[in-house]
Amino acid sequence: MRIGLLTSGGDCQGLNAALRGAAKTLYNLLPDVEIYGIMDGYKGLIEADWRKMEPHEFSGILQEGGTILGTSRQPFKTISKPDENDVDKLSMMLSNYKAGGFDALVILGGNGTHKTANLLSQHGVNVVTMPKTIDNDIYGTDMTFGFDSAVQRASSVIDAIHTTAASHGRVFVIELMGHKAGWLALYAGFASGADVILIPEIPYRVKSVVEVIEKRNSQGKKFSLIAIAEGALTKKEAELPKKERKKINENSTSGMRLAGELREHLMQDVRTVMPGHFQRGGDPTHVDRALCSRLGAKAGEMVRNREFGRMVSLRGDSITSVPLGQVAGKLKTVPENCEILHQARLLGLSFGE
Ligand code: F6P
Repeated sequence: MRIGLLTSGGDCQGLNAALRGAAKTLYNLLPDVEIYGIMDGYKGLIEADWRKMEPHEFSGILQEGGTILGTSRQPFKTISKPDENDVDKLSMMLSNYKAGGFDALVILGGNGTHKTANLLSQHGVNVVTMPKTIDNDIYGTDMTFGFDSAVQRASSVIDAIHTTAASHGRVFVIELMGHKAGWLALYAGFASGADVILIPEIPYRVKSVVEVIEKRNSQGKKFSLIAIAEGALTKKEAELPKKERKKINENSTSGMRLAGELREHLMQDVRTVMPGHFQRGGDPTHVDRALCSRLGAKAGEMVRNREFGRMVSLRGDSITSVPLGQVAGKLKTVPENCEILHQARLLGLSFGE
């Protein structure tokens, strides 16, 4: 069999571990398999940019961040759009898949990647996908790989800020990644003892945040930590028409806006920290490495069994798979009945409601 591997969309920790897991399984189960690395995500499939990989290239990469294949973003809305020569990316990918003699593709990616993978599958491409993203927002899996590592990174930032905030009696607004889903801010904030966690799913009131800080001050807790997701909105912002809401982050960030508001209400030093892509970089945690290896083994096994058009996924303690049609175009946000929200509230944590 001739199998193409590609990593698409924003990177995350664990991509190499997942590639290794799939490749090792394929070499193990299918002695005659040829694995091709498709470069820079779908771009490599569009431009017929791939190279034959050797088994040794998948050794020693379990703990390495980034992706040995490179990645790029190819927005889904551009995939079927004809260019100036009236050729669209989908047709190019389909003809390159055929010309390359591929039997199947193993595609590692997030939400946008899954929409394109589903489209390829609907056009007859044999596809198995693996759910990656620090956002943990892919429908159909309990956890995406990359998430645990990003929580670890974000938590270590909050931990470090904790000590300096306490020394100076300051308020810190720590802005974490997550435009549409607040999983990362929720878990990192919870794990590191943030006093307020603000996520896109729960629009907040500045007044509530101010009240939390004032209450802490009155209890002799002279510093406060706020973990805010980049997509968090105030109740007012959330009520704006979609077009205007989209523009909100053009000239500022959620953390900057909140810090500005807090400075107007508090007599205290308010600082912002934005770890940004630090959250996506560096080594995967051991939890992610194990998850990637398990998902990779499943992906390799599914290729051998010719179970195509599906995404490998984690359900409880089991590795299973779901049809791409049930994944593509859906988003897994933090539901209101999410247990961790309940437990955080029991602990007295505020979500700025
Ligand atoms: O989807 C992963 C993610 O890291 C988001 O949390 C973040 O909003 C976005 O990607 C950043 O994208 P880029 O790397 O293109 O700046």
